[in-house]
Amino acid sequence: MKFIKVESYDILSEKAAEIIADVVKNKPDCVLGLATGSSPLGTYAKLVEMNKAGEIDFSAAKSVNLDEYLGLDGECDQSYRYFMDTNLFSKINIDRKNTNVPSGINPDTEAECRRYEELIDSLGGIDIQLLGIGLDGHIGFNEPDSVFTGPTHIVDLDESTIAANARFFESEKDVPKKAITMGMRGIMQAKKVLLIANGKKKLEVVEKAIYGSITPALPASILQLHPDVTVIYSEN
Ligand code: F6R
Repeated sequence: MKFIKVESYDILSEKAAEIIADVVKNKPDCVLGLATGSSPLGTYAKLVEMNKAGEIDFSAAKSVNLDEYLGLDGECDQSYRYFMDTNLFSKINIDRKNTNVPSGINPDTEAECRRYEELIDSLGGIDIQLLGIGLDGHIGFNEPDSVFTGPTHIVDLDESTIAANARFFESEKDVPKKAITMGMRGIMQAKKVLLIANGKKKLEVVEKAIYGSITPALPASILQLHPDVTVIYSEN
């Protein structure tokens, strides 16, 4: 595992974008595993700049996102589908048909989990998975638990996750309590993993994930078992 500490969020974003851009350049029809939240916003902005400058071409690329809130339609501006459309897909030359986010509104949640799992397989797995990390050590929405869950599944969000994500909603009570998330199988089978985290309050969880025991109580610790992980951290 490579652990890179950088001076600023801008440098973190630049480096993360370069790593993703290299994957796209080497394999134009790659499968990008993508994340939402605040951490990747700078990376996405850099990828947009590179795409506009003609340095990378997403026309053959495909994507699978990690997660979605249950109950939110993709048109809803707090949904992760909307986040991805707004912050990345509408600004680069990826074909929207090739972008995938789990559905938060399929009433048959089990079927949706199966569909998403089969989709990841049918794409041939993920070439690079971008991850943020929650203060409780979650990746995707794989919350602390007594076991690591492999396939895409439905989760109850932790109180700390709901509180942390309340900033995107009118109030904490509006944050959905459940989500659908890619499980550890999709993440661990990705050829490369890139985890980005910024801010002093994330340092402790990042260090525990990298150097602490491997335990489902801190889901990101499973990444110690992956052969190609880069973690980029900046204090700002
Ligand atoms: C988002 C996701 C989450 C976030 C994590 C950190 O798709 O899967 O695991 O990466 O909650 O969120 P931020 O970056 O907002 O601190």
